Amino acid sequence: MSTETQRKALRGRVLTFNEDPRLIEAGASYDYWEDGCVVIDDDRIAIVGDAAAILPALNGKAELATFTNDLILPGFIDPHVHYPQTRVMASYGSQLMDWLERYTFVEEQKFSDPEHAHATAVFFLDQLLANGTTTASVFCTVHPTSVELFFAEASARNLRMIAGKSMMDRNAPTELMDTAEASYVECNELIGRWHDRSRLAYAITPRFAITSTEAQLDIAGRLAAEHPTVYVQTHLAENLEEVATVKSLFPEAASYTAVYDRFGLLGPRTLLGHCIHLDESEIKLLHDRAAIAVWCPTSNNFLGSGLFDLARLQEEPKPVRIALATDVGGGTSYSMLQTAAEAYKVAQLKGRSLTPFEAFYQMTLGNARALQLDHEIGTLAPGSMADLVVLDLDATANLTHRIDAAHGELEGILFALQILGDDRCTRATYVAGREAFTRAT
Ligand code: GUN
Ligand code: ZN
Repeated sequence: MSTETQRKALRGRVLTFNEDPRLIEAGASYDYWEDGCVVIDDDRIAIVGDAAAILPALNGKAELATFTNDLILPGFIDPHVHYPQTRVMASYGSQLMDWLERYTFVEEQKFSDPEHAHATAVFFLDQLLANGTTTASVFCTVHPTSVELFFAEASARNLRMIAGKSMMDRNAPTELMDTAEASYVECNELIGRWHDRSRLAYAITPRFAITSTEAQLDIAGRLAAEHPTVYVQTHLAENLEEVATVKSLFPEAASYTAVYDRFGLLGPRTLLGHCIHLDESEIKLLHDRAAIAVWCPTSNNFLGSGLFDLARLQEEPKPVRIALATDVGGGTSYSMLQTAAEAYKVAQLKGRSLTPFEAFYQMTLGNARALQLDHEIGTLAPGSMADLVVLDLDATANLTHRIDAAHGELEGILFALQILGDDRCTRATYVAGREAFTRAT
């Protein structure tokens, strides 16, 4: 350790996953130390394990923070969320297509104003951190400045963020439309300026098949081929009216999924929000392309879109890679805990019980794997970036009361937290070793 290294030690209950609990015996999928310690050197995790073993060896040369009875986890990851929709959340009364027109497209037009975009990026990132979320894959608006200002704010906070400009050249208000050619130039400029800069990555973001012409989807595919390390994010098969519209716009396509495939948009770095109304051939195609189906349960329920069929998508021999996300502002909470609570209920409606180990794995390492970032985030393994969240198990009287009934057993504690927890539980959020959010009390 050099003399300049800033060493911190966080003591508390420490949990980190190493494997998908669905694929091996659940107890072997994680490490958990009831009195644990995470040692951070500057921005990375140096040591993790039992406090009794680690603390004496530090010789008092670390700034110690003790979080008695708190749970220290890797920061949560939200792989599908719209930062321009902070004021669209909780908009009454309609399903996807009407909701887009009545609320979302109206709000997104305001992002031609850089001041509005900047203020919203600040608010949005504050919300993520207050909810323990340290990485997200984010839709911006069609305006390149909305991406610039988002990345600038994320970069100032040293956050691991993925984002992209929505590409839309039809079926939207004129103020929100670009053209295929303009989007090519703008995306290329944004990729050149931001992709792989500090902790940022670019996502080519055709909004969905309805708002892009074939020419623009072709451009999106070309961008993906020209920049193999960028992501692709879009929406797929969220709502039945949407699916029918795609069918009428692309009458030759075998399916909605096949539309994206035809333009080279499906691959292991493709994040597809929703994936509810899929036929068998589409599931096979997603499996074959190793694309990611992003489950957005609070949004799907709020907009009445349908029930994500986890068991069907995970079925052998063609399991699809899964991620779990908020989809704010269709989604109704920034909290990944609330998102996992809703996921649990949706799985129940489909006759499948989502274990708390699966839920906490998915919010951390599972989502990191979906983003191919598990070498850096989603885990407390030494060498990882020190992006983490400290959750207060006594955040509410109800949580204390309910967790008491778990008698210290991890599975019971996690399940109570998954179902009853929210942003009130976030005691602190660390980003690259720095405390980026601290709860007021
Ligand atoms: N499909 C196309 N755009 C959107 C959006 O902004 N939110 C949701 N939930 N679905 C979409
Ligand atoms: Zn979305």
